[in-house]
Amino acid sequence: MPENATAACSGAVRIAGVERTFATKNGPRTVLDGIDLDVVAGEIVAIVGPSGCGKSTLLRLVGGLDRPTAGTIALDGDATHAQDDRTAVAFQEPRLLPWRTIAQNVAIGLPRGTGKKEGRERVAELLHLVGLDHAADQRPREVSGGMAQRASLARALARSPRVLLLDEPFGALDALTRLRMHDLLLEIHAAQPTTILLVTHDVEEALYLADRVLLLRSLHAPAEPERPRARIVALGSTSGIGAAGTSGAHGSEQPAATEPARRASIARTVPVPGARPRDRGARPFTDLRASLLDGLGVHQH
Ligand SMILES: Nc1ncnc2c1ncn2[C@@H]1O[C@H](COP(=O)(O)OP(=O)(O)OP(=O)(O)O)[C@@H](O)[C@H]1O
Ligand SMILES: [Mg+2]
Repeated sequence: MPENATAACSGAVRIAGVERTFATKNGPRTVLDGIDLDVVAGEIVAIVGPSGCGKSTLLRLVGGLDRPTAGTIALDGDATHAQDDRTAVAFQEPRLLPWRTIAQNVAIGLPRGTGKKEGRERVAELLHLVGLDHAADQRPREVSGGMAQRASLARALARSPRVLLLDEPFGALDALTRLRMHDLLLEIHAAQPTTILLVTHDVEEALYLADRVLLLRSLHAPAEPERPRARIVALGSTSGIGAAGTSGAHGSEQPAATEPARRASIARTVPVPGARPRDRGARPFTDLRASLLDGLGVHQH
């Protein structure tokens, strides 16, 4: 949790008892269930989990692009809704309009009713923030993948959202560009403190960027075999997560309370110790990484 986060800041997300069941030709299919989560304003929460477990579905729900079958999602006390200017989404692919310039693509994200002059200034400011001043008049096909993704981030930031929803935003980038984007995201977060929900398949990325990592499970996978919890408890004492994470409102490394009768989607909530920017090679980091990979079914020897 960021030190300066307070209840008075905007961008607090409260997810309570959320379930999403889709009607399919084989009958109803519950993708998400029992999701309870409080995100404080300015917090960065990473969401990891196996493919198909509902990560994108959860982001869509928070963004008001879809509605839960049960439960509620509120932003600063008010339910989120379709075309909610308080939230903005950026995806794995930049989804820029090819016939428009980079500046025009960023301008698409401006809130409705923004004046021309004000809009131009805001776009220039955002292009500067993401290091694209020089590319303002270029078309998407003329810029690199990393630049296009920065433009996509700038477009999402254009409406000054209280909550930024990022769905594997760096997944399609090469490793070096991805590392640069991590630092850019942290710079943006420092310049414009915004609550961020970040879906990623990259555990390192989650641990480098997030205050907390949420591990989702697939409700359609066979139940995980009972594993001794001792390793995780021991990990808490070496990494500092015991002190940082087992008290307070942000959950812990405990399995969700609804097991085993009805499996909840959140398998674990892992607070990440240490202030950003973090040292990717630090011991707590590598221990947490191993623990999360273990939770994802990747067992290391
Ligand atoms: N509109 C829909 N109708 C029916 N099923 C859906 C719908 N949207 C999503 N699903 C199903 O919900 C499940 C979760 O999808 P979702 O895209 O949220 O997974 P994910 O965790 O983001 O996966 P990935 O890591 O591969 O992106 C999938 O089985 C998907 O087929
Ligand atoms: Mg997805």
